[in-house]
Amino acid sequence: MNLMKFKGWRRTMVVWFVCVVVVCCFSVVTGEMTSPDGPLPMSTVSPAIVGNITISPSIKVNYTLELSSSAPVVLDSTITFTAKLRMNPNNTVPEGEFHYLWLNSANHGQDRSKSNHEAKLDKTFSGMRVDPGEYLLTVIVSPKTRPREILAFGNIMFRLTRRLNGNLKVKQNLEYQRRNDTFAIDREIYFHVNITDRFSMTKSPECMYFWYNGSELIHSSEKPGFDKTFLQPCVLYLQAEATASFLELDTSLSSLLPHDKEPKYGTFQEKLLFKASLSNCTVSRVDSSTDDQSVKLGDAIILNIACNGSSPSAVCWNVTGLNMTLNETCKPPSQFLNTTQHQVSVSIGQTGWSTVQLAVFNDISVHVLSQLNYYVYDADTVDIPALVFPIVFIVIGITIAAAGGAYIVRLRRRLHVEVADFDFDPNISVRTTNILSPVAAAVKHIIGRLRRWRDQSNRNSHSDQPGMRRSQSLYESL
Ligand SMILES: *[C@@H]1O[C@H](CO)[C@@H](O)[C@H](O)[C@H]1NC(C)=O
Ligand SMILES: *[C@@H]1O[C@H](CO)[C@@H](O)[C@H](O)[C@H]1NC(C)=O
Ligand SMILES: *[C@@H]1O[C@H](CO)[C@@H](O)[C@H](O)[C@H]1NC(C)=O
Ligand SMILES: *[C@@H]1O[C@H](CO)[C@@H](O)[C@H](O)[C@H]1NC(C)=O
Ligand SMILES: *[C@@H]1O[C@H](CO)[C@@H](O)[C@H](O)[C@H]1NC(C)=O
Ligand SMILES: *[C@@H]1O[C@H](CO)[C@@H](O)[C@H](O)[C@H]1NC(C)=O
Ligand SMILES: *[C@@H]1O[C@H](CO)[C@@H](O)[C@H](O)[C@H]1NC(C)=O
Ligand SMILES: *[C@@H]1O[C@H](CO)[C@@H](O)[C@H](O)[C@H]1NC(C)=O
Ligand SMILES: *[C@@H]1O[C@H](CO)[C@@H](O)[C@H](O)[C@H]1NC(C)=O
Ligand SMILES: *[C@@H]1O[C@H](CO)[C@@H](O)[C@H](O)[C@H]1NC(C)=O
Ligand SMILES: *[C@@H]1O[C@H](CO)[C@@H](O)[C@H](O)[C@H]1NC(C)=O
Ligand SMILES: *[C@@H]1O[C@H](CO)[C@@H](O)[C@H](O)[C@H]1NC(C)=O
Repeated sequence: MNLMKFKGWRRTMVVWFVCVVVVCCFSVVTGEMTSPDGPLPMSTVSPAIVGNITISPSIKVNYTLELSSSAPVVLDSTITFTAKLRMNPNNTVPEGEFHYLWLNSANHGQDRSKSNHEAKLDKTFSGMRVDPGEYLLTVIVSPKTRPREILAFGNIMFRLTRRLNGNLKVKQNLEYQRRNDTFAIDREIYFHVNITDRFSMTKSPECMYFWYNGSELIHSSEKPGFDKTFLQPCVLYLQAEATASFLELDTSLSSLLPHDKEPKYGTFQEKLLFKASLSNCTVSRVDSSTDDQSVKLGDAIILNIACNGSSPSAVCWNVTGLNMTLNETCKPPSQFLNTTQHQVSVSIGQTGWSTVQLAVFNDISVHVLSQLNYYVYDADTVDIPALVFPIVFIVIGITIAAAGGAYIVRLRRRLHVEVADFDFDPNISVRTTNILSPVAAAVKHIIGRLRRWRDQSNRNSHSDQPGMRRSQSLYESL
């Protein structure tokens, strides 16, 4: 057995040596030195260190080889190696068939295949003969017609494991998720283990899945996934354990390979957090009453926002034209606070009606608040009428009062003068009576006629009407 291994390894080394010699000769023949930082300097021939190799100089050698594998895989499962040949320049696909030589360091085996520009090799490494670990695959490509010529070659590392390989998937329908490990309560969540190891038909295993929170079993089934809804905020130390048991389909083979009957295990863990979505958010205005929709230009609207739900949370907002609908809510700010109560100060830069659109985020939800409309007034334009009109009216008032006062004073003075005139200047007094005398004469004449008419009526009817008496008293007062 050891001798066999040694022989296989020696053969690989020989092929390696041939490769290196060919490359060097090629370089020398074409008169080009291997560039100092070329991918294959002589000192680092050790294949375990070298990754992608293109034979330099690349101008002269027109092929590159791209290798990939399905590793990591568990021992006894199928590993698939893929080689893609490309031509320079422009990475075009070469025409025709090629020889592929596959050398691996796991069991020191060689495989040959013929293919076009893409080649695949499926291999199964038995856990009986190969230990888990990292190994190297080397692929050498030759033209179909000249199998001794090397067009390109490359290396790739691959890992064989003792435990099953795969991944744990957690899916929940969330409108917003801040961190990929935080999920919502009161909502269905789907857990799924995806075993990526593939087994040949004769070795197809029977799988069981056990799900734990720490050490507490929460679910077990033959299916790789299950749904659950958590009702309280909590932490979940999720651990999924997959077990693959191998049936003995071929008794002769299984008796030869007793190790194959052993089940294989895989463990996958995630720490998950479950939180409550935001709900029942309320907004109240601090700098004024909540109903007050007006704000002075330059002043900030200060709002208190409180929600039910899990912290941390953050608030963002947009100021838009009146009742404008936004395509999407504002982006959550980078800083989240350890609370679900916030105070924000919103400044609106333009006068007139504006709409403030607010949204609150926590780790797993977004709550869009109803739009708030505010009217912004400019203090400068509003204060001019507010102050100027009173001032104008006050000025007018003062002017009227002053004018009125002056008039009264003048009137009084004139009255005074008149009285004085009466007392000391008889000419004026006479003149005054002279001015009034025609009017008085006319009035006396009318009243005299009225009296005569009354006397006649009294004599005729002896009536006693108040109107007559009033005219009489009027007459007497004159
Ligand atoms: C090999 O090439 C691939 C793609 O060209 C690149 O992603 C990878 O990092 C390379 N590996 C090394 C070891 O250079
Ligand atoms: C590489 O391609 C060029 C033309 O693109 C050709 O002249 C040259 O012979 C090719 N070299 C090899 C080694 O095929
Ligand atoms: C390679 O691409 C360049 C530009 O991308 C183009 O000018 C050139 O003709 C292409 N060469 C070949 C052989 O397709
Ligand atoms: C979250 O992302 C990190 C890094 O991409 C990954 O390692 C982790 O498994 C992810 N967690 C979940 C629950 O998907
Ligand atoms: C399982 O994982 C592989 C590799 O990551 C992926 O290609 C495949 O789609 C996954 N399958 C499911 C059902 O998630
Ligand atoms: C999981 O276990 C932790 C402590 O071990 C506990 O605090 C938490 O509530 C558990 N989660 C569930 C969903 O039972
Ligand atoms: C939200 O409000 C509704 C009705 O007011 C109430 O029934 C519900 O319990 C509240 N939710 C929370 C988380 O307080
Ligand atoms: C919901 O939030 C209000 C304030 O917004 C608070 O008074 C009430 O206690 C909260 N209810 C719960 C169940 O958290
Ligand atoms: C909303 O506000 C964000 C910043 O919080 C800004 O980047 C975005 O452009 C605004 N959107 C609109 C429509 O005004
Ligand atoms: C804006 O919306 C409010 C409330 O929804 C409504 O009362 C008002 O008439 C709307 N204004 C305009 C201009 O659409
Ligand atoms: C709204 O969003 C859609 C796609 O999400 C985009 O095509 C459209 O241009 C957006 N409209 C505005 C006004 O941003
Ligand atoms: C947030 O609050 C919780 C308790 O409510 C506390 O344990 C945690 O340390 C706080 N985190 C920060 C960043 O303040």
